[in-house]
Amino acid sequence: MCGIVGYVGEKQALQVVVEGLRRLEYRGYDSAGVAVVADGVLDTRKKAGKLVNLETLLGADPLPQSTIGIGHTRWATHGGPTDANAHPHVSEDGKVAVIHNGIIENFAELRAELSAAGVTLSSETDTEVVAHLLAAVLPTVRMDLAEAMRTVCRRLSGAFTLVAVHSDVPDVVVGARRNSPLVVGRGQGENFLASDVAAFIAHTRSAIELGQDQVVELRRDSVVVTDFEGAPADVTEYEVTWDASAAEKGGYETFMAKEIAEQPKAVSDTLLGRIGPTGRLQLDEMRLSENDLREIDKVVVIACGTAYHAGLVAKYALEHWTRVPCEVELASEFRYRDPVVGPRTLILAISQSGETMDTIMALRYAREQGSKVLAICNTQGSTIPRESDAVLYTHAGPEVAVASTKAFLTQLVACYLVALYVAQVRGNKFGDEIAAVVRELKDMPQKVDLVLDTTEEMKALAEELKDAPSVLFIGRHVGFPVALEGALKLKELAYMHAEGFAAGELKHGPIALLEEGVPVICIVPSPAGRSVLHEKIVSNIQEVRARGARTIVIAEEGDESVVPYADHLVRIPACPTLLQPLVSTVPLQVFAAAMAAAKGHDVDQPRNLAKSVTVE
Ligand code: AGP
Repeated sequence: MCGIVGYVGEKQALQVVVEGLRRLEYRGYDSAGVAVVADGVLDTRKKAGKLVNLETLLGADPLPQSTIGIGHTRWATHGGPTDANAHPHVSEDGKVAVIHNGIIENFAELRAELSAAGVTLSSETDTEVVAHLLAAVLPTVRMDLAEAMRTVCRRLSGAFTLVAVHSDVPDVVVGARRNSPLVVGRGQGENFLASDVAAFIAHTRSAIELGQDQVVELRRDSVVVTDFEGAPADVTEYEVTWDASAAEKGGYETFMAKEIAEQPKAVSDTLLGRIGPTGRLQLDEMRLSENDLREIDKVVVIACGTAYHAGLVAKYALEHWTRVPCEVELASEFRYRDPVVGPRTLILAISQSGETMDTIMALRYAREQGSKVLAICNTQGSTIPRESDAVLYTHAGPEVAVASTKAFLTQLVACYLVALYVAQVRGNKFGDEIAAVVRELKDMPQKVDLVLDTTEEMKALAEELKDAPSVLFIGRHVGFPVALEGALKLKELAYMHAEGFAAGELKHGPIALLEEGVPVICIVPSPAGRSVLHEKIVSNIQEVRARGARTIVIAEEGDESVVPYADHLVRIPACPTLLQPLVSTVPLQVFAAAMAAAKGHDVDQPRNLAKSVTVE
């Protein structure tokens, strides 16, 4: 998720673009760059790190005056956060500059094609291929930049927002959109392009949201939109009513609400390009050889907080699909207990930020014992992937709210992918089940989308329960880590006492906590009715209800067995048992955020917490 700005008009483009990037910096801050066209010459400046680094560079090495320009703040997906990988990317002839948000799924074959044609690629990014392809096509379309963009877009697969300028076409900015946002800002004698309206509402509130597979050609006094074939496209102009702060949140009240809503796309983006057309997993990006994976005799997950809960879910999946033993360790405890790890142990270090010191110290300890480390991380080029042997990046985009939501779901997806890949490489006794799960995994973004709209229901429930002294969460199997995650969300957002239990453990002590009205959130495993697991959790719900608990039951559509014991029933889509955390977690995230709001807390920045805990 990157920040994109384009401008053509009468003002100084650089000032408009940099100001717009500042408004979009929450979308990505690994690097920033700008390009302008002045007197028929394209000029760019780009720098790793936050926008301020680019501004320092511009102060020392200014760009020429210009009324046309583009700019980009990057959230790295392919290629670390370096100067070379920063956008804009420029064609070999120095005439085309391109900026990009998204993932070009077929970039590897395009890179190979360009290299074979003698093009020298200067970055590790997927984006750079577009600059070279545009330069190659332009002469064949009479230097029509919009037509060149349409021609190139027809060759791309994946998710992309692209914006380009060309030095020989000095008064045109061209954009294209597939599965990634791009809006036009229409001004008087000037026009804007941006990832979201926050970038230009200081100049105009008249906007056009581009649709799927559309190309827009912007001049200072015209906006022309077509589809990828060149046919005129219908567009709807609208007035932006948000203020700047609301615009940064995409109109949501909080970043957390926005990030909960982004989960279907985050899950989809994390799957993108990793499941081949025949359903086989393609994870060579991990750079772990098949022999490495055949050699391991144990997997040990090290992580903290929500990432630790993702590891607990991974244990169930990995052991079931691969029959490789899997231990899950709190990173802060791991290296102090003299753990048994060695060269045949695969360490899975899960971290959204990649900077959690507990996890860093644990992985360093494991590497000293000779273990290989595979990082699952959301932040390109951060410390944990840098110090690991291999990495599988989640593609959740920047997670601004301290309470982790979309990062958690994408950690689950990455863990499933790793487990399925290990099963694929080592062979397994569930051949047909693996193929079925891979098919089901591809359906999960839509199922997560279905479960998003529990907000009103959870707001009402939070209002009812906001004075409860404590909230208990129970689950079985992968529902147990979900119970832990639900309790953590409520603790860190609503500052309430909350505790998650394995439902089978209640009778061994915790059931003594129950009295009239104690809220107990019960996660019921899929599939409905057809498993001992399901029967057990239903009897656990009866047990707690018999002792006065107020039961809030999370159960799949059509599961009627729980209805008599649910004071409040939240429905989730049916899915395979092991994948259920992808949907059962979402109502708990929404409930915790609603409870925090009901209590008047800062949902995005809860007290005492930091987004990345960089101390032990
Ligand atoms: C989750 O809501 C918390 N913010 C926290 O537990 C977090 O998951 C933990 O600190 C680990 O962070 P990491 O994923 O960046 O390593």
